[in-house]
Amino acid sequence: MAEVIIVADEEQAGALGAEAVAALVAWKPDAVLGVATGSTPLPVYRALAARSLDLSRVSAFALDEYVGLPLDAPQSYHSVIAREVTEPLGLDPARVHVPGEGPLEEAGEAYERDLRDAGGVDLQILGIGTDGHIGFNEPGSSLASLTRIKTLTEQTRRDNARFFRSLEEVPIHCITQGLGTILRARHLLLLAFGEGKADALAAAVEGPVSARVPGSVIQLHPRVTVLVDDRAASRLEYADYYRYAYANKPSWQPL
Ligand code: GLP
Repeated sequence: MAEVIIVADEEQAGALGAEAVAALVAWKPDAVLGVATGSTPLPVYRALAARSLDLSRVSAFALDEYVGLPLDAPQSYHSVIAREVTEPLGLDPARVHVPGEGPLEEAGEAYERDLRDAGGVDLQILGIGTDGHIGFNEPGSSLASLTRIKTLTEQTRRDNARFFRSLEEVPIHCITQGLGTILRARHLLLLAFGEGKADALAAAVEGPVSARVPGSVIQLHPRVTVLVDDRAASRLEYADYYRYAYANKPSWQPL
């Protein structure tokens, strides 16, 4: 079962997430981080930036990218990762990877190869979409899927329209690490904040493992930490148990 930690607010989640990264980098200075876009991971990046760690040897792999946007468009995940992760954290841009470069037909396999060559992801930061997607793996995605082109749902396009001038400008296609790719990471750190994520989060953490809720694939992973605020945790049936377990967490146990 995932370790679910119900935090007071996004700031506390950010501090805990940054602590997990700092602990990893302390014993593995060339660690491989899996980074996510969206609003959810921002508190972790902010807290990490404030710690001024030397992350110059760390590599990072993004989960996904739109297809059809110029890579330097402000909404492209290439731009978002550069702006919100690479620059503030002081990562070496040569070690930061975002899928979708080169010929599209080969981009998925090329990304899988790059991930393998880097030794795999040590810590994967994840958000969750309101329809239960992780990365851009929409409902129906194979639980064993690898990096590939996908079609976004209308719900995801609407959710992400806030970053564009209009819904029409939101791309229809994307490239995303698969659920099987994500499962290969050694530690998954899933964050969710706010009422709007409560149903998706409960389905992912406590519902049946199903391609209907791609986030439920985390239940197949041996090491998952879920950081949620009260509102996102409001539909969790075992919330009391998670609070109890965290209050009694052995001091020798890492996050
Ligand atoms: C986006 C991203 C996901 C992200 C999710 C939630 O579409 N592809 O990686 O986790 O949707 O976004 P937010 O954190 O802004 O709610």
